[in-house]
Amino acid sequence: MGYLIAGNWKMNGSPALARDLAAALSAKARARAPRAAIALCPPAPLLAAVGAAIQGTSIALGGQDCHFADKGAHTGDVSAVLLKEMGCRYVIVGHSERRADHHETDAVVKKKAEAALRAGLVPIVCVGETDSERETGETAAVIARQVRGSLPDAATGANCVIAYEPVWAIGTGKTATVADIAPVHAQIQTLFGEGGPAGKRAAAGLTILYGGSVKGSNAAAILACPGVGGALVGGASLDAEDFWKIVTACP
Ligand code: 13P
Repeated sequence: MGYLIAGNWKMNGSPALARDLAAALSAKARARAPRAAIALCPPAPLLAAVGAAIQGTSIALGGQDCHFADKGAHTGDVSAVLLKEMGCRYVIVGHSERRADHHETDAVVKKKAEAALRAGLVPIVCVGETDSERETGETAAVIARQVRGSLPDAATGANCVIAYEPVWAIGTGKTATVADIAPVHAQIQTLFGEGGPAGKRAAAGLTILYGGSVKGSNAAAILACPGVGGALVGGASLDAEDFWKIVTACP
């Protein structure tokens, strides 16, 4: 599979920014077909505006989270079914900010990813260790627990994406090095292949993104890391020029 660059706008943006940013990126995608697949994940109220602006381009739409139920009495939540109807192809689940802010466990993340698959969306399942877990040498154990606990049995390399986002690198300007990234991506690839109902998932073609302070200036080095299949971009995805630098840095 080719590279995927996904912009996670988090709780940022406005109708004006959604229109302008998505229009600027659409113009770039029309002018020169990007080699990488691109997804924009705005806050839910901006999905329609972004969807309208990217229409007719190769840029895809994504949600930032979904509920694990398909519908019902869950005030404030958004279902994967509705995201699909709004034109989404992807949904981020298990982002570390949701694991922290909303106490989401691996079991909950797994149910959300299952809901995404049911709805025909590609879940982007996030994993990553905190600073203190890293300091105490627990990275591999945390990644193993999160990958084993957060992925649906039915996940395959074709219907699911994983994002490795070390929490200490998110929004901090601290970028992980090849030495930090490559072993974890290799571990995720191995763990992914061991799961599933038959004890083994179809892992071929699995895309593993890296996320954490990715920007135009460091994208080429990160995207060249062994096992890195793209990036999940926070802050830099709010700037059309910088985001496009990341897109064009794909090897
Ligand atoms: P930053 O790129 O702002 O560090 O955020 C990364 C992230 O959390 C993307 O999901």
